[in-house]
Amino acid sequence: MDTILSGIQPTGNLHFGRYFGAIQNWMQLQETYDCLYCVVDYHAMTMPFVPGKLRENSWELVYNLLAVGIKPENLFIQSLVPEHTELGWILNCFASYGQLTRMTQFKDKSSQSEEQAEGFVSVGLYTYPVLQAADILIYKATKVPVGKDQEQHLELTRNIAQRFNNEIGKEFFALPEALYTEIPKVMSTADPLRKMSASQGEKHNIDLFADSDRIRKQIRSAVTDTGEAVEGVMSPGVENLFSLLRAAGQTAAYDSLLLDYQAGALKYADLKYTVAEGLVAISEPIRERKAAIAADKKAVKNQIKASAAAIRTRAQETVREVKELVGLANVKF
Ligand code: TRP
Repeated sequence: MDTILSGIQPTGNLHFGRYFGAIQNWMQLQETYDCLYCVVDYHAMTMPFVPGKLRENSWELVYNLLAVGIKPENLFIQSLVPEHTELGWILNCFASYGQLTRMTQFKDKSSQSEEQAEGFVSVGLYTYPVLQAADILIYKATKVPVGKDQEQHLELTRNIAQRFNNEIGKEFFALPEALYTEIPKVMSTADPLRKMSASQGEKHNIDLFADSDRIRKQIRSAVTDTGEAVEGVMSPGVENLFSLLRAAGQTAAYDSLLLDYQAGALKYADLKYTVAEGLVAISEPIRERKAAIAADKKAVKNQIKASAAAIRTRAQETVREVKELVGLANVKF
């Protein structure tokens, strides 16, 4: 059976953009594959961060992911499996410096980091894709559900695996592939030309755990037409509301409202109402499960520590083999 691995950074809130863009898909994959989902706290250190808050943020994301429906046995926090960093170091020595310099995410994020931290850009940010390769290869995962923005990192991962295999003369690592699924483009309702995102501020994302009235209010104030409407072209705001409706699984309402739109008879208030109720219907049961989890955090923590321990034995086995293959001293676990 294929092993799937994906990672999510414990930064920012869990909003509908991340839910429709990744997490909903993660849940479905659990039905078919051996899935491992990692809250990547080591990665969250590569951008300016508040020391001391990492752990709290990671656990909060764990609770949220469990509330959404990620199975506890599939979920762990990266730093509970410190072998990721050990393999990461070894893989640094199989990663091409030249290739790393071409990572576009590094270029984007390094300028963000410079702005946020008075010119500071960490080496961690630079070598981050190699740690990501370790996250994947340590479980010999073959499929990686990610967005298009991670394509370059996946290609790097394959190159590292290939170089390792060539150097040691054995097909040790399988070459992982990105698993793209059709994911809706979810834009900010306050500015439908930008992606829904945690980093742009509250009004640019709708929190999955927001109370229902807040969700309704955010949708009610969504931008529709900006005054520069072009005859026969759907405005980005209206298009985004339709995408949200479809993402929320409201296909019948989507079809009928689209017919109204085409007939020039769509009332934006109706569209907004239907979108808001669609989102609320998703969020309510999730919020209820979150409340149950929050009532017994200790039990949940123990459960995740146990999954991390089980997952760790898999990681340790790979690191043991890798050290053996490259000729490093071997410690018995
Ligand atoms: N780099 C990914 C992101 O920014 C997160 C990530 C870390 C990841 N390790 C991973 C994704 C391993 C897939 C597999 O979204």
